[in-house]
Amino acid sequence: MKTRNPKTFHVKSFGCQMNVYDGERMAELLEADGLTAAAAGEAADLVVLNTCHIREKAAEKVYSDIGRLMKRAPGEAAPMIAVAGCVAQAEGAEIPRRAPGVDIVVGPQAYHNLPELVRRAKAGERALDTDMPPLSKFGAFPARRRQGPSAFLTVQEGCDKFCTYCVVPYTRGAELSRPFAAIVDEARALVDAGAKEITLLGQNVNAWRDGERGLDALIRALGSIPGLARIRYTTSHPGDMTEGLIRAHAEVEKLMPFLHLPVQSGSDRVLKAMNRSHDAASYLRILDRVRAARPDIALSGDFIVGFPGETDTEFEETLRLVAQVNYAQAFSFKYSPRPGTPAAAMEDQIPAEVMDERLQRLQALLNAQQLAFNQASVGRRTEVLLERAGRKPGQLIGKSPWLQSVHLESDARIGDLVEVELLSAGPNSLAGKTVIPAKAGISGRKVSAGLHEAPAFAGATA
Ligand code: 5AD
Ligand code: SF4
Repeated sequence: MKTRNPKTFHVKSFGCQMNVYDGERMAELLEADGLTAAAAGEAADLVVLNTCHIREKAAEKVYSDIGRLMKRAPGEAAPMIAVAGCVAQAEGAEIPRRAPGVDIVVGPQAYHNLPELVRRAKAGERALDTDMPPLSKFGAFPARRRQGPSAFLTVQEGCDKFCTYCVVPYTRGAELSRPFAAIVDEARALVDAGAKEITLLGQNVNAWRDGERGLDALIRALGSIPGLARIRYTTSHPGDMTEGLIRAHAEVEKLMPFLHLPVQSGSDRVLKAMNRSHDAASYLRILDRVRAARPDIALSGDFIVGFPGETDTEFEETLRLVAQVNYAQAFSFKYSPRPGTPAAAMEDQIPAEVMDERLQRLQALLNAQQLAFNQASVGRRTEVLLERAGRKPGQLIGKSPWLQSVHLESDARIGDLVEVELLSAGPNSLAGKTVIPAKAGISGRKVSAGLHEAPAFAGATA
């Protein structure tokens, strides 16, 4: 038995923050079309699986989820199922062939048509849309609704870099920037709806441009929106780290001291085989310039271990680079061959045990750096944006300027910016106590001038 007339929905997003943004927009579209978000724990009539294709494990998850959804309690109808996101784009009509319970397949550039696809599915049709009309979806969205204090805003999509391991250029298409004015309007709408922090998103967010304007100009424009306290951006490519953007880190008060700049490997041979446009030395030089502009900046990166042909010595070069940079946070992955990418056809694929061992060694180093970074913050005062309730009564969880999670007991409200003394640190979060409740909506560094001491860095680059 299958639900044919959905009244409630649930959107489940996997993968990157751009999927989280897309998931929110899908929810807004469905609500504007008369459906209601299912309450937590309630079985929804329509389930949208907003999928990720970046690694095999992520891509396969959707099939186990579909299996689970089709096996609801006896007598209970299976929901209408929509597969959205990058697996939908990459596998298209193959999905309902493999999982006949799927009613709708919709790609990341076509999901503004979701209400129409639901109507077709209601009529018993299998509805598929993986067209890639550039950016047209943005014009079709309803107004932004109430947000939490920290909001995502997609400004750029797609990628032209064609790293040899990566599916993104195929699933998300060519590099495209949304227009300046549309982004500023959406940022204002988000602030009106309660956002204090906006994270600008793009697969290559620092490649964003509109005519002569680059991402730094956009950041400066958002910096003048009253009520917006914090600006972040992710994910960046070293090749697009312009002088203007580096300068913005020194000059724009609301731009938070955090940079996620993936390097992937510390070996020049591997970087070349990956078709990255930088080598280890040029990456380190960029970080030097960023640190000169903003000495307290916290750095984050992405790493792949076991790229085809990676030798022990080449892997050691990655460890060496990590030791030189000293990351506050990082993501590291075992290489996963993706269908249609050049690296999947390369010789010398690395055995799973070798990849496991390398990943463990790399993660041990990165985790130690993250813990050291958090521990170096203990005893300091900083500003925290309160984002959500914690598990214990009276506990709130927020973020420091350096993207650290901070837990505290406070009678302040979610959305407040508060001055916090950091008392203790673990690998993933810190505990603190409120010193002065700051005024909501005021920029971080103004409130706490002189208090933003940077956690000490144990090492410098290059
Ligand atoms: N295998 C493993 N990791 C990958 N990434 C991208 N493609 C692959 C792949 N085929 C990682 C990169 C990228 C991050 C989002 O995912 O590190 O920066
Ligand atoms: Fe993928 Fe490389 Fe583009 Fe990043 S820059 S999305 S890793 S192809």
